[in-house]
Amino acid sequence: MHPLPYFQFRDFPAGLEAQVQQALFAAVAGKQYVLGPQVQAFEQDFAAYLGAGAAVGVGNGYDALVIALRALSVGAGDEVVLPVHTFIATVNAVLQVGAKPVLAEPDKNTYNLTAETAAKHITSKTKAILAVHLYGQVCQMEVLQQLVQSKSIKLLEDAAQAHGATYKNKPAGSFGDAAAFSFYPTKNLGALGDAGAVVTSDANAEAFARKYRNYGESQKYTSEQIGINSRLDELQAAVLRVKLQHLNNMNTERQRLAQLYLQQLQHTGDLILPETAPDCKHVYHIFNIRTKYRSQLQEYLQQQGISTAIHYPVPVHLQPAYTFLGYKAGDFPVAEELASTSLSLPLFPGLTEAEQQRVVEKVKAFFERY
Ligand SMILES: Cc1ncc(COP(=O)(O)O)c(C=O)c1O
Repeated sequence: MHPLPYFQFRDFPAGLEAQVQQALFAAVAGKQYVLGPQVQAFEQDFAAYLGAGAAVGVGNGYDALVIALRALSVGAGDEVVLPVHTFIATVNAVLQVGAKPVLAEPDKNTYNLTAETAAKHITSKTKAILAVHLYGQVCQMEVLQQLVQSKSIKLLEDAAQAHGATYKNKPAGSFGDAAAFSFYPTKNLGALGDAGAVVTSDANAEAFARKYRNYGESQKYTSEQIGINSRLDELQAAVLRVKLQHLNNMNTERQRLAQLYLQQLQHTGDLILPETAPDCKHVYHIFNIRTKYRSQLQEYLQQQGISTAIHYPVPVHLQPAYTFLGYKAGDFPVAEELASTSLSLPLFPGLTEAEQQRVVEKVKAFFERY
């Protein structure tokens, strides 16, 4: 029996790999390797896909968060409310700009930040709410938008896991004052290396991001503002342009696979399966299940040649490097419960029916013993 990886790049839809290779060859032949036509075209394509004002290609998702925060003038002395159940990059970005991350519990059913929990942490120093669309599901944005409006603060989206996910038919990345995307290879829209984008409809924020990613230059050797080098790579942009055309297709495949898991794993042991909230189209970047036998299940599946992952085993407030934030065990019971019970099953475009059936059978076999 072949080992089944948690994630693997497959040629899905068929022919995608050849299209990507062709685009790469063409970009190499184009001989413009930094901020050239591919980056420009991808920025236009991605903004059009989202129906958002503008996309600014940057080096990775972390930089996209940092640049978006700076573009919204978040800095020293400011507080940013964000979910405690997220990838560490979200918190790091807030620290990087000198602001204080203020952690909030996720919703116990959707695992996302809610307006209700965010509101509890708003103080006179709060500059922004940073909503993370975790696992491929958009947060309930209407209430978050109302909350930021009533408090005159900014709304930033971390859409690194939610390319093409929608809420009320509008895509992730089109709700906030700005949004950050990662195109890390395994993301729903992934490059062949690091890449990211800031998305915004705010012309000032866009202008800031365009300059900031390129040493603050408005034109060659004229730095209007301080900046860094975080340019989206021209070859990665060429890859992303091809893959963007297939994003909806790949997301539909993820949804089909998720539905199969949802049908076949219902009423299995103590499993809690992912829920889709009202008005949301989930794109299943991660198919997360929960069980109090998480470690045993993971070990059993591994013995059967099936790899899984945990998103995330240690919540942010209990990470050794972040004790200085002053939190302790017990501060976020929902997040702590998620960290100890969550397991992510293999789900990626190109996963075969036989492979998925194997996962289902082995999960069921495990629960015959528990
Ligand atoms: C929620 C979230 N935010 C930010 C990032 C950072 O993106 P990158 O790895 O491209 O820096 C990631 C993914 O890696 C992520 O999952």
